Amino acid sequence: MSTNETAAPSAPAERTAQHRRYLMCRPQHFTVSYSINPWMEPSRPTDTDVALRQWRTLYDTYLALGHEVELIDPLEGLPDMVYTANGGFLIDGIAYGAKFRFPERAAEGPAFMDWFRDNGYTVAEPVEVNEGEGDFLLVGDTILAGTGFRSTGDSHREVGEVFGKEVVSLTLTDPRFYHLDTAISVLDPVQGAGGVERANIAYLPSAFDEVGRGILAERYPDAIQVDDADGAVFGLNSASDGRNVLISPRAKGFEAQLRERGYNPVLIDLSELLLGGGGIKCCTLELRGGSR
Ligand code: ARG
Repeated sequence: MSTNETAAPSAPAERTAQHRRYLMCRPQHFTVSYSINPWMEPSRPTDTDVALRQWRTLYDTYLALGHEVELIDPLEGLPDMVYTANGGFLIDGIAYGAKFRFPERAAEGPAFMDWFRDNGYTVAEPVEVNEGEGDFLLVGDTILAGTGFRSTGDSHREVGEVFGKEVVSLTLTDPRFYHLDTAISVLDPVQGAGGVERANIAYLPSAFDEVGRGILAERYPDAIQVDDADGAVFGLNSASDGRNVLISPRAKGFEAQLRERGYNPVLIDLSELLLGGGGIKCCTLELRGGSR
């Protein structure tokens, strides 16, 4: 390498996909039998076969992109277990367990912690109410933490103690966007090679209070700000490997914004799972580190 090399400032960023390991759960017992978010209407029928088919497309797409997907067994009576993002938050082989806000999902917490233990993770049992990667997002070396509907402010302190990282609290204000992962999408979780690219996000400004909007604007001046119309179809509830971004086919504006920035949007329709108030990201928990 020459010592006086100069970066070409206008060269378009070549996005590189990073390998991911995820945890998913087949929606075998999926239905909407209770309502703990505004999307859930128990009187509206659900079709478990459609949910299974749509979920399978997501699973197959991750594998086709070269990622690894682990599976946790679905448990009867826990229809929301398909939303594995809520099962915990994992960094470097440590799994901070979830403690659910509502009794309907309480039993999922221990079930996920058992899986983490059985699969080589050191489990940090939670004292405070938190819903895992639904409300905690790792961006660079910072944890963005949501509150307002599910995870408590005390859990933000706890997650910071468990991982020894900076935690930035953000307050959600629109009940449709009750988890942080419905309002923020982490596009580039890590610094690019040589520090050329900052960790970056996309977000829905209207989902946050004014303080939160200020923090996001200041910390992520290059973020994609997504329109309400794309937020309303759960466009932000997406999964990125740094290049491929799996999003809802209905988030047309977001899709165009991603293309402009050199990402590759991959459209995955999870309309049936949206009846439970979840999308792509909700069905995906990232397994960072661990033994395997
Ligand atoms: N029905 C589930 C609940 O309300 C949906 C969870 C969606 N998960 C997510 N990571 N946003 O808890």
